Amino acid sequence: MSETVERWSSRRAFILAVTGAAVGLGNIWRFPYITGENGGAAFLLLYIIFVALLGVPVMMAEIMIGRAGRRSPMMALSHLARRAGATPHWRWVGLFGAITVFFILSFYSVVSGWSIEYLVSAVNGSFASRSPAEIGASFDAFLADPLRMTFNHTLFMLLTMSVVAAGVSGGLEKLNNLLMPLLYIILVILAVYATTTAGFGQAISWLFTPDPGAITAGVVLSAMGHAFFTLAVGACALMAYGAYMPDHQSLTRAAVSVVVLNVAVAILAGIAVFSVVFTQGMDPAEGPGLMFVTLPIAFSELPGGAFWLGGFFLLLLLAAWTSSINLAEPMVSMLQGAGLKRGQAAAVVGVLVWAVGLLSVLSFSSMADVHWFAGMTFFAWVTSVPPSIFLPMGGVMIAIFAAWVLPNEIAARALDTSPGGFRLWQGLVRYVSIPLMVVVLLSGLL
Ligand code: PFF
Repeated sequence: MSETVERWSSRRAFILAVTGAAVGLGNIWRFPYITGENGGAAFLLLYIIFVALLGVPVMMAEIMIGRAGRRSPMMALSHLARRAGATPHWRWVGLFGAITVFFILSFYSVVSGWSIEYLVSAVNGSFASRSPAEIGASFDAFLADPLRMTFNHTLFMLLTMSVVAAGVSGGLEKLNNLLMPLLYIILVILAVYATTTAGFGQAISWLFTPDPGAITAGVVLSAMGHAFFTLAVGACALMAYGAYMPDHQSLTRAAVSVVVLNVAVAILAGIAVFSVVFTQGMDPAEGPGLMFVTLPIAFSELPGGAFWLGGFFLLLLLAAWTSSINLAEPMVSMLQGAGLKRGQAAAVVGVLVWAVGLLSVLSFSSMADVHWFAGMTFFAWVTSVPPSIFLPMGGVMIAIFAAWVLPNEIAARALDTSPGGFRLWQGLVRYVSIPLMVVVLLSGLL
């Protein structure tokens, strides 16, 4: 397959696309509940360390491979491997990435469907008159209703695949524009409101006073996995976007700005959610429903609550949408490489992912007692193992390829930085990121 000719129309469009991929459910939904399950501040600290030491350099590696290869991830890897005189089997890293995003997108769509449901409920004002206990109970009732969940999941898959089918500049770019700042503004408003609640002080100390005793190999592994998940790194999804990156754009600057913004969004969401958790005496380790219960409670107490809550879920949905189109891209570009038209590829991927998503839907009702792996429902498995294990495994392979296999001159040109910057990046990936990923993965798995 020859080089792709598609390009983002500008540097700004590329940064927006990568930000769109990174900022999503991972920051606003997954970050608070997984921090809650892993004991708070110690998890947050580890997450920030991993974002800095792994997230930035491996993100750069991944985008760089895409830009140097200018093909779908599998094709880019085998093409570059040949140029480096290495085995073309490196392409299987691209396939592994496609499998990873396949699983992730399957639950991502289901949870985004929850946002659709909550958007509609918020606009109808149905939270306004309810007590916190009733709001909690209505979430459980929703989970127990597979038809409603399937309806919303289907809707979200259709939204995603129609944008993906429209292609890079026609579809992906337009959606990534301008709406995200609104989400940040609403989050800031929520975080400011959080400062007025009784639980704010407790939330802050819970989030920012690490207890070293809380650190276990499992916590470390989850923190690393979450760093990859929220940055969209490790599944070749950013590699697919890198293929459309214009020449002469600083990859370092793009990566650092995305990462900083991404962490800021997660922390704001954490402050907003945990202030309500502690104000209401809820359990921080309550799990995936955390945000869907706490935020309606918070907003129901704010003036104009229904309006803000509706706006919040609308923007969350948009954030999820710009991530889900990125999740679909490695699979779609792979099928395009195999000769399918973009629209056909999007349809095939959409149907398959949708079908597997039904397993997540049913995990809360008829399949609640079906244990997919180690006592976990399918939903529990798919929301933990692909993000915490598959993404870092992909990250290790991508990093090895970029920093050890790819010849320096190809890597340096695609990275587009000064010679000193290139050596710094390569040293960091070779001697810090790769060993760290391997150690954490092995100790977490054993
Ligand atoms: N970064 C996205 C989020 O935080 O919601 C999720 C994601 C997108 C993960 C793309 C992996 C990926 F390849």
